[in-house]
Amino acid sequence: MLIDQVCGALMRAGCLLCCTALLLAVKSAPAAAPPAAAPHAAVSSTAGAVDETRLEAADSEPQNWFTAGRDKDGTYYSPLTSINAGNVGTLGFAWAYDLGDPQRGQEATPIVVDGVMYTSGTWGYVYAVDAATGELLFFNYGTNAPYLHYGVVDAGNRLVHYVPIDLPGPRLPHDMAYTEHYAILNDMPLFWEPELLARGRYASRFHPDLPSRLGVIPRRGASADIRWFEFDPTYVLHWTNAYESGEEIIVEGFFQGCPEPASAGPNGPKDKMFRFLAQDTMQTRLHRWRMNLVTGQTREEDLSEACTEFGTINSGFGGRPYRYTYAATNEPGWFLFNGLVKHDSQTGREERYQFEPGVFCSEVGVAPRPGGTAEDDAYLVTLTVDMNRDLSECVVFRAHDVGSGPVARARLPERIASGTHSCWAPGDSVRGW
Ligand SMILES: [Fe+2]
Repeated sequence: MLIDQVCGALMRAGCLLCCTALLLAVKSAPAAAPPAAAPHAAVSSTAGAVDETRLEAADSEPQNWFTAGRDKDGTYYSPLTSINAGNVGTLGFAWAYDLGDPQRGQEATPIVVDGVMYTSGTWGYVYAVDAATGELLFFNYGTNAPYLHYGVVDAGNRLVHYVPIDLPGPRLPHDMAYTEHYAILNDMPLFWEPELLARGRYASRFHPDLPSRLGVIPRRGASADIRWFEFDPTYVLHWTNAYESGEEIIVEGFFQGCPEPASAGPNGPKDKMFRFLAQDTMQTRLHRWRMNLVTGQTREEDLSEACTEFGTINSGFGGRPYRYTYAATNEPGWFLFNGLVKHDSQTGREERYQFEPGVFCSEVGVAPRPGGTAEDDAYLVTLTVDMNRDLSECVVFRAHDVGSGPVARARLPERIASGTHSCWAPGDSVRGW
């Protein structure tokens, strides 16, 4: 949806973005080296300081493109007149900015404010949507300093916050967490090997001599506001949730006992990819990290001995105290989900369901029952692949009674690939649905 809007915005704005960012300009404009700022943009003394008043008066700053749709109403209309029907055919190449390796399909939302064009780049961008506020919290990362950025897009689809985060080098964050007032970023000691990276090769390596670090920053905090807390070395693919409790921030997710499995398996690098995602090989366990914002003290503990990962929660409890995580167990040695575990973070109780051999599910979507108020008064929805009968099904569980098995099944027209991530959103919350 966002990408559709981006494409529309780009086309209407007369810009094109693909693997490399290109800007078109009138041919008669002198060719120039890649500029640090968009042409014709005035740089104010408070660059990037955009507030509601400034958005309201977007037409008075036609050189800026504040939002995906340029202004607060998303009109996509530029008052600039230099390019018109008479000269549009003379547009040509002006400058390019290389987004680096890997060269792959690229679509993004360029925002232009005070002479700076902000856009996303290649590699894994992970987004966390706060179901309570509609805010989209996100980060992106890369191989050039600053290696990490943190940002917020508000419920109106406006980029309202975007700050660089200092890191000691390129890192590989895969996920982030958030509470009511904070975003939690991470610096884990599994990252690209610097020497290989310098030669354009992306090989990750675990450094057990370095700590894991969690960075706590107010949701609209500046770069300098982030506070880092150190924990035992590990790598975390996925956080389940985080919340505030008195002086503490509590984060839960999956601690990896073995972030870099030694065995590549009989099929070499291809198998190694699976070993990096097989829960039993990585020894992934539900874990709790505690950070005291007053004393700076930290604590951490395993919440389960079971090897699970790909946990989801009732998103209405995102960023707030919660009890239940619905996670997947795996086929030993494989990135295939053969069962579900419901973790109760308060009591430690676990409830399991095991699919029959040869049947694998995806991460479950948690759909709250309409009218329900209890956290587990919900349905778990997953898509399965049945290798025995060569078919796929949509399978539904009651969240408060996972162990009793599915309460509804619907066969899909075709067998699909075994899935991974999923989430549930009410149809009326999805624009254009
Ligand atoms: Fe993931």
